[in-house]
Amino acid sequence: MNSGTPATTARSAPLYERVSSVIPAIEWPVFAKEIDAIIELKRMRNAVVLAHNYQTPEIFHCVADIVGDSLALAREAAKTDAEVIVLAGVHFMAETAKLLNPDKTVLIPDPAAGCSLASSITAADVRLMRKRYPGAPVVTYVNTSAAVKAESDVCCTSGNAAKVVRSLGERKIIMLPDEYLARNVAAETGADIVAWAGHCEVHERFTAAEVRALRQQHPGIIVLAHPECPPEVVAEADCAGSTAGLADYVARERPARVVLLTECSMSDNVAVQHPETEFIRPCNLCPHMKRITLAKIRRALESMTHPVTIDPAVAGRARAAVERMLAL
Ligand code: 13P
Ligand code: SF4
Repeated sequence: MNSGTPATTARSAPLYERVSSVIPAIEWPVFAKEIDAIIELKRMRNAVVLAHNYQTPEIFHCVADIVGDSLALAREAAKTDAEVIVLAGVHFMAETAKLLNPDKTVLIPDPAAGCSLASSITAADVRLMRKRYPGAPVVTYVNTSAAVKAESDVCCTSGNAAKVVRSLGERKIIMLPDEYLARNVAAETGADIVAWAGHCEVHERFTAAEVRALRQQHPGIIVLAHPECPPEVVAEADCAGSTAGLADYVARERPARVVLLTECSMSDNVAVQHPETEFIRPCNLCPHMKRITLAKIRRALESMTHPVTIDPAVAGRARAAVERMLAL
């Protein structure tokens, strides 16, 4: 094992205090060495690390400059003065950051960090949906490629999907590609939504029976669900929201015991900030998010890899769909 020196471990002691409840002490010297190097590289490169809420605690709490849900990462990417953005998340998030910062270098530490929703639909599919439902506006979840965004009227995230749908005031709306998000938003807004059959491979695994079993095993537990979960799961939950929405619920309501029906690292990251809350963890891992590691972030900053590029033929139209969402 390639451990850090006693000096790097000592320097990072205050950081370790933050995450000691979720990272075993024996793992820390390896992380400390990478964290030390990344902090120095960020300074040298005038770089910021934007990390999604599903990143592991050593990334989320120790090297990220900005953390949040997809909406917050898009907003913050649009604001930063840094020359280089390292997106610790999946490819569509890095692409969104690049759309909003065409003149900056946006790096994704592992370009294979995909998303089952993004790979469920192509630009040609969106064009077919438009033909089938003429005149219906197309709302595209940000969990899509730039080429798909370019075929859309406006983007949305899990944090603002209902708001975006209400803003259209249309009778029929096409919402792509997450079937469950679309059905959950239709239930919330009463809108007539045509969906696509894309699913998040992490959230589709939660079931209503699992929620009922959790309530029996842990009386009084608060169940929070991400809206990528099937509608029958959301119906059994106490509250549904984006990853930031779920974290805000815990911060606001301080439940004694909670379960977050979402990706595993989310509970670790929120638990660090709320030691008074007991987190029950029947979570599911996102293999794409887990491709991002401290070692890959370090390599990205050392060798300036992998820069995100967007086909100029789609970039302008994709940017307009994201900017329309941010303007709401
Ligand atoms: P949020 O926008 O809620 O962070 O969700 C992103 C995502 O990929 C959820 O699976
Ligand atoms: Fe995509 Fe689901 Fe992973 Fe989020 S958790 S990146 S929606 S596969």
